[in-house]
Amino acid sequence: MEIFIDSADVNEIQELHEMGIVDGVTTNPSLVAKSGGGSFTDLLLQICAIVNGPISAEVISTTASEIIIEGAKLAALHKNIVVKVPLLPEGLKAVRHFTSKGIRTNVTLCFSPTQALLAAKAGATYISPFVGRLDDISSDGMQLIRDIKLIYTNYGLKTKILTASARSPMHFVEAAKIGSDAITAPASVLRTLLKHPLTDIGLEKFISDWKKMSNPQG
Ligand code: E4P
Repeated sequence: MEIFIDSADVNEIQELHEMGIVDGVTTNPSLVAKSGGGSFTDLLLQICAIVNGPISAEVISTTASEIIIEGAKLAALHKNIVVKVPLLPEGLKAVRHFTSKGIRTNVTLCFSPTQALLAAKAGATYISPFVGRLDDISSDGMQLIRDIKLIYTNYGLKTKILTASARSPMHFVEAAKIGSDAITAPASVLRTLLKHPLTDIGLEKFISDWKKMSNPQG
């Protein structure tokens, strides 16, 4: 399963990338706005210089013709840019166009299996179902991933499932068991995947026992 960091913070992307666990990056307009207000182009180029994998850059246009112009500019910035397009009728028209031009897309804001089916038919490279936001409204976010996986498998659809809005280690475990192709989460969530109290307790004991030896290096 590919692991993407959901962030527009260059420092935290760099830090997590150094651990060798980051296959790609997803950004969205809210994350970019939070990152400090510089140029979006510069930010994307900095991210592309750190991570050699799919980097999702989201358009803010909502008509097909404008999405096509905006997305083409983003895609031209770097070979690793994936154009992130909202799941709207106009968005799917643009996805169809990008697919015909060989430009990769990540169709975002997916909340239902039918939306995912139509995005795949339009040729989306990735579909981003938002599991955390469904959980937030008392729906079962991971059930959406199961449904999409079944539908895509039934019909051999090639669109990759990118579990998005992941908020907890259990989202990762479930996504991996279901066979999600990829998952994206903020740095804070990625760090929790590594934590285990028995690891910390065990290490502390090993070090304190070692220090009790009279001549440990001898
Ligand atoms: C995905 O591409 C989105 O950027 C993201 O996962 C949304 O997560 P949130 O619901 O925690 O904001």
